[in-house]
Amino acid sequence: MKNNFQIQSPSNIALVKYWGKRSEQIPQNPSVSFTLSKSFTTMDFEIGQTNHLGIKNLTFEFEGKANEKFRIKIIDFLQSVSQDFSFFGHLNLHISSKNSFPHSAGIASSASSMSALALGICQIEEYFSGNKLSETDFQKKASFYARLASGSACRSVFPKVSVWGKTPFLADSSDEYAIAFPEIDPIFEQFHDAILLVSKQEKAVSSRAGHSLMNNNPFAEVRYAQAKNHTEKILIALKTGNLETFIEIVEQEALTLHALMMSSKPSFVLLQPNSLVLIEKIRDFREKTAIPVCFTIDAGPNIHLLYPKNVAEKVEIWIAEELHLFCENGQYLLDKMQ
Ligand code: PMV
Repeated sequence: MKNNFQIQSPSNIALVKYWGKRSEQIPQNPSVSFTLSKSFTTMDFEIGQTNHLGIKNLTFEFEGKANEKFRIKIIDFLQSVSQDFSFFGHLNLHISSKNSFPHSAGIASSASSMSALALGICQIEEYFSGNKLSETDFQKKASFYARLASGSACRSVFPKVSVWGKTPFLADSSDEYAIAFPEIDPIFEQFHDAILLVSKQEKAVSSRAGHSLMNNNPFAEVRYAQAKNHTEKILIALKTGNLETFIEIVEQEALTLHALMMSSKPSFVLLQPNSLVLIEKIRDFREKTAIPVCFTIDAGPNIHLLYPKNVAEKVEIWIAEELHLFCENGQYLLDKMQ
């Protein structure tokens, strides 16, 4: 490894949502996601050695400018795992990071950036220790540390479909790291995700606040049971190419996430009038055309429109002609599964 290297890591969009955790970033239920291809973080690492300054001396730039808030977040994370990385104490690290997607675009930048960071520190460790892990073990390890930095980031380490959280359906699944789910039917290959930007002034609930609100949510236990059931069903649907079940679960998951936020104390309504218009239009279009489009939503007002690649042309004409009218400044982003 050279003293300078670069990591690119993508964001992901959850199909079965992670919302609620136990100590040390352990999820209350398994989650499933598509890894995106065009929405990624590029992180440059420059390594020097020092005798005394160590990780606290880390310098950090985001999109070309020093960013103290992110720098402190990264130092806090690195210090929290420093017992596992003995080289941190004599490392002089400069990190510079940029995203391929705009801020507040309804794309989880914490997933792409924290997975890039975890991949980076695991790569530096390989260099210092001389222990080269197999690709699978390396990914597992990076996913483990990505999870500690930001839960859903652990799913970004794998292409296509990732599963995080123990499920009896997958023997090697774990609460501590994600795994790849490789058995997907060709209809789900390169599944498209058009992100319809209802509002860029996202009043998103921070994930930290959102997860902790689940501790007192009256529907929490029922929700966790539902998510476990959805995980098993969606994995079977992905494997067998069952679009109907896929659509049903993905939309239920999105609306359940928002129902949980609405029923928390304090309660949050993050959907905006145009989010609801788009939901209605998507369902109406699906019914009228029999084109298998569906929506998912994260903790914000923006709508992720999901559709198979074989209908992309028709769907994208519809977005350009009609749906963009319900987006802030007509903006949307076209992405797809890796
Ligand atoms: O990874 P966190 O702590 O930012 O939580 C992610 C929460 C959701 O994006 C709403 C759902 C998910 O599984 O990605």
